[in-house]
Amino acid sequence: MSAFMKIALAALVAGAVQAVPANLAPSGASSMRHTSSAASSMATGTSSGSKTSGGFPEFSTPPADAAAKASALAEKLQSKVTQNDRLQVLLSEDNAGKVPLSDPDQIHDALAFDFKNAPAGGDGGRILVANEDNFPFLVGEGIAGAVAFIEPCGMNSPHTHPRATEFLTVVQGELVTGFVLENNFFKDAAKEIDALAFPFNTTLKQFEATIFPQGSIHFQFNPTCERAIFSAALNSADPGTSQIAQNFFTLDEKIVDITLGSYDKIDPSNVDEFRAKLPPNLVRAVDSCKATCNM
Ligand SMILES: *[C@@H]1O[C@H](CO)[C@@H](O)[C@H](O)[C@H]1NC(C)=O
Repeated sequence: MSAFMKIALAALVAGAVQAVPANLAPSGASSMRHTSSAASSMATGTSSGSKTSGGFPEFSTPPADAAAKASALAEKLQSKVTQNDRLQVLLSEDNAGKVPLSDPDQIHDALAFDFKNAPAGGDGGRILVANEDNFPFLVGEGIAGAVAFIEPCGMNSPHTHPRATEFLTVVQGELVTGFVLENNFFKDAAKEIDALAFPFNTTLKQFEATIFPQGSIHFQFNPTCERAIFSAALNSADPGTSQIAQNFFTLDEKIVDITLGSYDKIDPSNVDEFRAKLPPNLVRAVDSCKATCNM
């Protein structure tokens, strides 16, 4: 386990929100407060009177049957061998593959994906990944896309994409991003911080971009009091996402306990408590940031 994970998980075990690294303080924060508060404050519903400045679109809710319809069409497209055949089905009357669509609205429905349908992912913001299941145009194209709307002090918690490298561009605001690669990356430097791999992070300003290599554990954090938006491309039509802490804590409590080096501290009586305290993937969590932004 990397140092980053150890710190993050140790903080969770300790019931702390986060040990706040200095560079997670919002710009303008004069001093660091290494405060910890009840982890339950990470949960949704703490966004009291959020001081936001607009910059997000009006979000929409897709029709209830939209996901099932997209998925059924994606399955149909998947049965076609060539791209021409797939796109003829996508762009034809009744998806029969014969007569090209002519109605501009129907063409728009087939060609356009609406990130304004991003669901609330906790009080930290919204994220939506377009993949071949919810956007059939992607079937067989080897690429996917995501847009995230991140509230002040919001974080997209550490996760991996098992099947894709991500190319992320900050479209609005500013984000701290970081990643941890696989075991033995900068082995000696990693050993010095008691880790298996050495982590890297940086702050991206508007219109700066970065890469998260396939399989790396990575996060995005908005350290400012203004809203941030990123857009990302992923080189698989089915990139997948695995949230590190949330999935780790689904393991048997003994496995969790031993991994955290806290043998006999976590047991059936308290492991559920930890699981319950883990936030949704988008969370507003850093106390010093929230204090600075009057949240
Ligand atoms: C960013 O990297 C620096 C140097 O390795 C480290 O001290 C700091 O804690 C890291 N911050 C985050 C948010 O990962």
